[in-house]
Amino acid sequence: MEPFRFHVFVCDQQKPEGVPCCAARGSGQVLEALRRDVAARGLADEVQVTACGSLGLCEHGPNLIVYPEGIWYSGVTPADVPEIVRAHFQQDTPVERLARTDPAHLRAEILNNREKMFAAHRAREAAGILPDDLNESIRGFQASRAILTALELDLFTAVGDGAGAMEAAARLDTDPRATEMLLNALASLRLLVKREGIFHNSPAAARYFTEGSRDNARPALLHTAHLWERWSTLTGCVRTGTAARDEIAGRGQDWTEAFIAAMHRNAAERAPLVVRAVGAGSIRRMLDVGGGSGAYSIAFAQANPALRADILDLATVEPIARRHIQEAGVAGRVQVRAGDLRSDRLGEAYDLVLISAICHMLSPAENLDLLRRCHEALAPAGRVVIQDFILEADKTAPRFAALFALNMLVGTRGGSSYSEPEYAAWLGEAGFREIHHARLPGITGLMIGSRI
Ligand SMILES: C[S@@+](CC[C@H](N)C(=O)[O-])C[C@H]1O[C@@H](n2cnc3c(N)ncnc32)[C@H](O)[C@@H]1O
Repeated sequence: MEPFRFHVFVCDQQKPEGVPCCAARGSGQVLEALRRDVAARGLADEVQVTACGSLGLCEHGPNLIVYPEGIWYSGVTPADVPEIVRAHFQQDTPVERLARTDPAHLRAEILNNREKMFAAHRAREAAGILPDDLNESIRGFQASRAILTALELDLFTAVGDGAGAMEAAARLDTDPRATEMLLNALASLRLLVKREGIFHNSPAAARYFTEGSRDNARPALLHTAHLWERWSTLTGCVRTGTAARDEIAGRGQDWTEAFIAAMHRNAAERAPLVVRAVGAGSIRRMLDVGGGSGAYSIAFAQANPALRADILDLATVEPIARRHIQEAGVAGRVQVRAGDLRSDRLGEAYDLVLISAICHMLSPAENLDLLRRCHEALAPAGRVVIQDFILEADKTAPRFAALFALNMLVGTRGGSSYSEPEYAAWLGEAGFREIHHARLPGITGLMIGSRI
């Protein structure tokens, strides 16, 4: 049974450089044009568009198939899309000039291509050539570095509504030859589009990387650029067992601003999930240990007008948190105090102590010590809630948490990602009961314990 009047499968397979494939021949732009045109003509609920892997006609792409008829189109360009949508989907008349009308010929071509592909695989296998996906992982830093450099230079803002290489270089005060190389590389990554020598931002680059866009993530992404230097020391860190330099304290204000901006951006997605999982209704006083921008305290305060929150963080972060609290309109109920979460007494009689994205920067002994002080700071029925990247017991999954352990290795003296059994053991030793793991959608989870 077909749930849609038409179902279009567009091949978007990316093959290794130099091998013909639909992606290299512009299937991304065809998909974009198809989705746009189908929506613009009010057909989105009747025509389902799905990107798919190889259809076996790689030399003639972009290829697409339309069901229920099973019409194959080859060599489709974005300029052909309005005709396909109008003639085929609105007037039920397939576009003959693009349709492959001889099934026997089509089948022979696909089988021939399949045999060539198997032969190429066998030859590579026999020659012991590194598999493409492994190669991609190893060279992945090149694309990442190109994007991070563009973000550091604020290149996407400089490209604006369109710029040639010379113009972009003049706006950025960079070398024209090198700037052109970077612009071309970014176009190969589909973050820019080059038309007649002029570079334009892709929709994603314009939305997420340019000054003035509501969703500009650049201030937060600069934190990732800052991590680059640390990750370059990984080999040495594995040899010595710890970061070459100390952690957050002592870093410049630019570093801190980008770091807290990154945390604030993450919190926009995570805070509503945490508030929902923990519940704000019964909480009168909460402590947010290492509260950063204040995003979590603000979310709890907004969920419960009777709730008051104290944020403990470094003196350099205090003004940033104040700014966010002021903007959120909860200044009367959310306070910030400068202190050291590694050694300070944390206070008393709190209903909730939140420790979000903190435990990973501490060693096991420091976490146990922190949890003991949290226990002291809670009212009798109070709860401690840890939010972090929680590893499975054997520590090899989830992948994000396993890789994040290395991020802590290169950036802290004793931090790591920790497993559910490790958190449970520290919580138990610190005196907590009713210890449990509350799973959240996405990359973080909660470990919760009660002081009974
Ligand atoms: C990864 S961020 C987490 C921020 C916030 N809890 C969140 O989840 O978005 C770590 C926070 O701990 C703070 N921090 C680091 N060392 C600290 C210390 N010794 N005392 C107090 N705060 C500290 C940092 O300034 C930063 O705000």
